[in-house]
Amino acid sequence: MTLLDIINNSRSIVFFGGAGVSTESGIPDFRSADGLYRQKYSVPPEVMLSASYFYAHTEDFFRFYREKMLPLDAEPNAAHIRLAQWERAGKLLAVVTQNIDGLHQAAGSKRVYELHGSIHRNHCLSCGKSYPAHFIAESKGIPRCACGGIVKPDVVLYEEPLDQKTIEGAIQAIASADTLIVAGTSLSVYPAASFVDYFRGDNLVLINRDPTPLDEKCTFVSHGKVGEVLGALPSYSSEEEDPS
Ligand code: APR
Ligand code: ZN
Repeated sequence: MTLLDIINNSRSIVFFGGAGVSTESGIPDFRSADGLYRQKYSVPPEVMLSASYFYAHTEDFFRFYREKMLPLDAEPNAAHIRLAQWERAGKLLAVVTQNIDGLHQAAGSKRVYELHGSIHRNHCLSCGKSYPAHFIAESKGIPRCACGGIVKPDVVLYEEPLDQKTIEGAIQAIASADTLIVAGTSLSVYPAASFVDYFRGDNLVLINRDPTPLDEKCTFVSHGKVGEVLGALPSYSSEEEDPS
């Protein structure tokens, strides 16, 4: 069966994505050869993105975070756009993403489960006041609230738990899908990678440049670029075709 056949016959698709969904928007992923975790730092990025490092070396955390984790000029690519169209056309139930860049919502997706939070949500640790991403981007040193408290991004750092409601929503969506598309993820971080196990539907589709532990269990595997693969599929929407 071709991917087009699978998508044509699907009524409740769920998309489970990772950093590879945003590389065609110019945001490097983590574990590819040119990924963030391959770049040389005195302290490994996985350590700098941990809760203990945040609290012990707050200023250094924000220096790295501002430099590497705030791609505020990135635009949604063909993958993000297609998924939002499929949702509007009633073919896609939800997007479950490990990404924190907000590009699915920027493309128009409504039901997005952000397992690792979002750079667009930041709050004061003392009074809870919310701040947008550009407040962090434009801050110097440690971003401070008007009350003097530290403003912390609502992204799941290593050692931190995922949001329970988000987990429940994501698992529920995956469990009710007839087709699950897993894309742009090495499936190497838990618990996110385990959510795929809740899938009970007919078609498990994988679109990933490098091999993953899931490859042999899939109905369909493509090692193409997810933006190109999804961009080549119909939008199923009545709207005029997007110019891209
Ligand atoms: N099209 C298809 N696949 C791609 C593309 C692309 N355009 N670009 C990259 N890939 C693939 C790579 O081959 C790689 O297997 O996407 C995968 C990205 O894997 P990772 O860099 O490990 O990213 P991800 O799986 O999202 O990491 C999970 O790790 O550090 C944590 O919280 C962070 O959410 C992140 C989590
Ligand atoms: Zn405050």
